[in-house]
Amino acid sequence: MAHVIASADQLDFSITDLPSMPLPTEVLMVRPLHYTVDYVINPHMANQVGNVDTIEAQNEWDLVRALFDQIGLNVRLLEDHDGLPDMVFCANQSLPYIDQEGNRHALMSIMHADQRKREVPYIEQWYRQNGYEAHFLDETKIDDFEGCGDAIWHTGKRMLWGGYGYRSSLTAYESISELFDIPVIALELVDEAFYHLDTCFCVLDEKTVLIYPDAFTDEGLKLINTLFDKVIEASQYEAEELFACNACCPDGRNVIIQQGCTDVNKNLRDAGFSVHEVSTYEFLKSGGSVFCMKQMLW
Ligand code: ARG
Repeated sequence: MAHVIASADQLDFSITDLPSMPLPTEVLMVRPLHYTVDYVINPHMANQVGNVDTIEAQNEWDLVRALFDQIGLNVRLLEDHDGLPDMVFCANQSLPYIDQEGNRHALMSIMHADQRKREVPYIEQWYRQNGYEAHFLDETKIDDFEGCGDAIWHTGKRMLWGGYGYRSSLTAYESISELFDIPVIALELVDEAFYHLDTCFCVLDEKTVLIYPDAFTDEGLKLINTLFDKVIEASQYEAEELFACNACCPDGRNVIIQQGCTDVNKNLRDAGFSVHEVSTYEFLKSGGSVFCMKQMLW
């Protein structure tokens, strides 16, 4: 039965009650050989068409890849395709999952923008070649769902946080909750600069989250504050200009984040996290940073 929670008064469990889920051990990255800003599908891309330094973008991507490797993840690589300038943002085309028996699954996205729809079959093919079972949403009932751009695992637990409003539909989470037999906490997004949940919400460990509060409704903030012991808030500058909340903390300890997020980084260090700063300026032009540039796998 679907278990989608959209307000704090619907909460009927606490995080500690939930079954545990292994931490990811691998990460998929898509080499940005054809990355550029070619069209505008989010506010960050406005005025950036044709502005990407493609050599610099590849250098930045190499350093992000090196950091994932350095913190102990097995990095898997796939090449992008001509005419798919956003394929590098491989958090978006799927939602991977490992079940209680250790079988791997991937739910394929229904991209919101027509320009990105052709990315999905390439990612699906990679999953099929790598032992994952591919699943699909019913496109006659669900308009859009952009994978881990909007669906974010609670670290170490069989529960998802699901953003909706710009790129994913609330109805998608009913199907996902049933398919994976997990609760989903639905969060409405209300500021188009924060068009994916991963632009304003970063789970750091089981008890800690980094957010940009103005991207959420009061009800959403109540859910976040109820289910996390510690909520670190980013300023508008660090969240909107530097994508602080698009950081990635795959192991509950190491945080990879766009460089220059001074206040957030201080809070992260004070809370005991190791901070690894990296330049993703070329990707910020497209509205993405570290979290979008990878897909966590098992
Ligand atoms: N230009 C891409 C888009 O608008 C950026 C995607 C960034 N990904 C993310 N998970 N926030 O779709």
